[in-house]
Amino acid sequence: MNSTGQAISRIDGHAKVTGAARYSAEQPLPRLAHAVLVPSTIASGRVVTIDSAAASAMPGVLLVMTHLSAPRLPAGGMAGAASPPAGRVLNLLQDDRVHYNNQPVALVVADTLEHAQAAAQNLRIAYKKETVQLDFERAKKNPYKPEKAKDEAADTRRGDIESGRRNAAAVVEAVYTTPMEHHNPMEPHATVAAWDGDRLTLYDSTQYVSGVRNTVAKTLGISPENVRVVCPYVGGGFGCKGSTWSHVVLAAMAARQLGQPVKLVLERPQMFGPVGHRPNTEQRIMLAASRDGKFTAMRHDVIASTSRMEDWLETAALTSRMLYACPNQQTSHRLARLDTGTPTFMRAPGEASGTFALESAVDELSYALQIDPIQLRLQNYAEQDPESGKPWSSKSLRECYRSGAERFGWSRRTPQPRSMRKGEMLVGMGMATATYPANRSAASASAVILPDGSAIVRSGSQDLGTGTYTIMTQIAADALGLPLERVKFELGDTDMPRAPVSGGSQSAASVAPAVKAAALAVRRKLVELALADGESPLSGLQAENVTVENGWLTAQADPRRREPFAAVIARHGGTALEASADAKPGEEKQQYAHHSFGAVFAEVHVDPELGVIRVERIVGSYGIGRLLNQKTGHSQLMGGIVWGAGMALMEKTEIDARYGRAVNSNLAEYHVPVNADIGSIDIIVVNEDDQHINSLGAKGIGEIGITGVAAAIANAVYHATGKRVRDLPVTLDKLL
Ligand code: MOS
Repeated sequence: MNSTGQAISRIDGHAKVTGAARYSAEQPLPRLAHAVLVPSTIASGRVVTIDSAAASAMPGVLLVMTHLSAPRLPAGGMAGAASPPAGRVLNLLQDDRVHYNNQPVALVVADTLEHAQAAAQNLRIAYKKETVQLDFERAKKNPYKPEKAKDEAADTRRGDIESGRRNAAAVVEAVYTTPMEHHNPMEPHATVAAWDGDRLTLYDSTQYVSGVRNTVAKTLGISPENVRVVCPYVGGGFGCKGSTWSHVVLAAMAARQLGQPVKLVLERPQMFGPVGHRPNTEQRIMLAASRDGKFTAMRHDVIASTSRMEDWLETAALTSRMLYACPNQQTSHRLARLDTGTPTFMRAPGEASGTFALESAVDELSYALQIDPIQLRLQNYAEQDPESGKPWSSKSLRECYRSGAERFGWSRRTPQPRSMRKGEMLVGMGMATATYPANRSAASASAVILPDGSAIVRSGSQDLGTGTYTIMTQIAADALGLPLERVKFELGDTDMPRAPVSGGSQSAASVAPAVKAAALAVRRKLVELALADGESPLSGLQAENVTVENGWLTAQADPRRREPFAAVIARHGGTALEASADAKPGEEKQQYAHHSFGAVFAEVHVDPELGVIRVERIVGSYGIGRLLNQKTGHSQLMGGIVWGAGMALMEKTEIDARYGRAVNSNLAEYHVPVNADIGSIDIIVVNEDDQHINSLGAKGIGEIGITGVAAAIANAVYHATGKRVRDLPVTLDKLL
């Protein structure tokens, strides 16, 4: 019986809850030294003096590395900076420049963490400050086109928006803003670096082991073959761990200099600067429609913040290009520089912020036209990708609207704002569309059948807590014809066959086909071995007449002719059988537009006196191809929704406009939802099998869950209160 699709509990769950799972910072290496990062306390300028004498003399201190003493790197430390996600502009103590508050300016290494922390506090650093720009409101007055604008960020224009607007019955024109937000996985970034001669091993918490290998090798000027990156467990990634940041290379530099392994774990406040964030956005939307709700013109112009060091763009207008059929449309992206750390990928980078603006504007238009919000969206349903004209690889959005509305009870909603109450509370119901690209990249895997008939399958992918171990074990077991408990799936090691970054929601869609192909290949070897073997009860049969199930080969015509995997191998010298496979997207990648879609419905209760907002319940209905595991899959979507609720109501990094430091750089003051903030979440996955994505029919699900949620909640708040908040987060002060 196939296990793929079933609600199998996490295979790694027991190891995680018992502490047996070893995370990056838990590598018990002999002579392990402890490093502490010393961050800058100004936002822009130079380090004038850095007095390390007192710190160096303190108990247990092994090394104080500053820009004066750090080893010089090729290209000033920029050799690996060329290609995100892995390669970013880093701060590796190569000069005296300070580009943002919280930038690494020194590294202190000692025999214990406490000794390193104490010494780090005794560094005397004098700075020369320069004027800073930390106010997005002012910075955005000087927007610029990203120099290395990726093709996807280029300005687009189709049709004629002026005439589309002139002929409209209703026009919404509004500015939506989203704040700077920082990733806060439970496990902070952590690296253990250990050298053996000229070979480096990194135990690094990362979404991309092979990316870390290549970037660190380039940055240090050594061969990638001499770098091994190991990461069996990640305590949350969300995009921040897709890139190789400064601390990884600094740990390697210190370990090489000391000749002993070094551990460097970022402190929680150090998560707010050197390892990326979601930038501020200002999004200007113009949406026009005819009386019957057909869009006649749409314009989406984005300004996002970035750092001095690097042009990194939150591509918030991409969704607007493809989500609705609209003949006349224009999009643009611009950047505004702030003296902060560089932004980066954060769960649905572009789609999460972009759908807030677009799906709020569509809601505003529904009131202007007095058309039901679902009906308005159906009026503009895109039967193919409006941008490329290509057919969708699969799209079940109509069914998402229908099933979501039914489960939610949308028909009970009275359209008028402030028209629904429960006791004293104002009740609001809002909805929005969710979408995210269905990405896929090349990946490889290997599979081994051991002499005892069990199997090990490997791919150098990552499990961010998402369920990769579990779904790959299910797929491998089904392909091998083995029960789940006889298959071990391993990941997170550059010694394994290469897999892509676990970002862009692509691990399942990319790695699963490779795992399936490798498992089928080794199973074929086993079957061929038996069929060609005179001593096998299956001798002489054709492969297609043999059933492989539960660790047995059985003749279909005669169930008495059968033998277990181990018997075949035993007669052949007892050596394990092995196969590997590469899988990559074919021409279908060009022929079809690949997207996941969904519909999100939210009910909020708002206290009319105090403005307190409660999210009572959320229903999300998604078309995501074949669901590989109902339990881990639903959890992925729920996790995205919870984050969407935090984005809607709570999350915002407060930057001190004088010093550039995040004021709320801790989990007490950087608000994210806790259990009590979340009412019920109900997930529907509609029946869909994408024939044009991969051999599993499965699209990714890591990011779509957050998209549309902030808009659905803001739309529900409007419905409850009559107050349109276009500036996230929707906090109670904005309702009063
Ligand atoms: Mo995801 S933000 O692409 O790791």
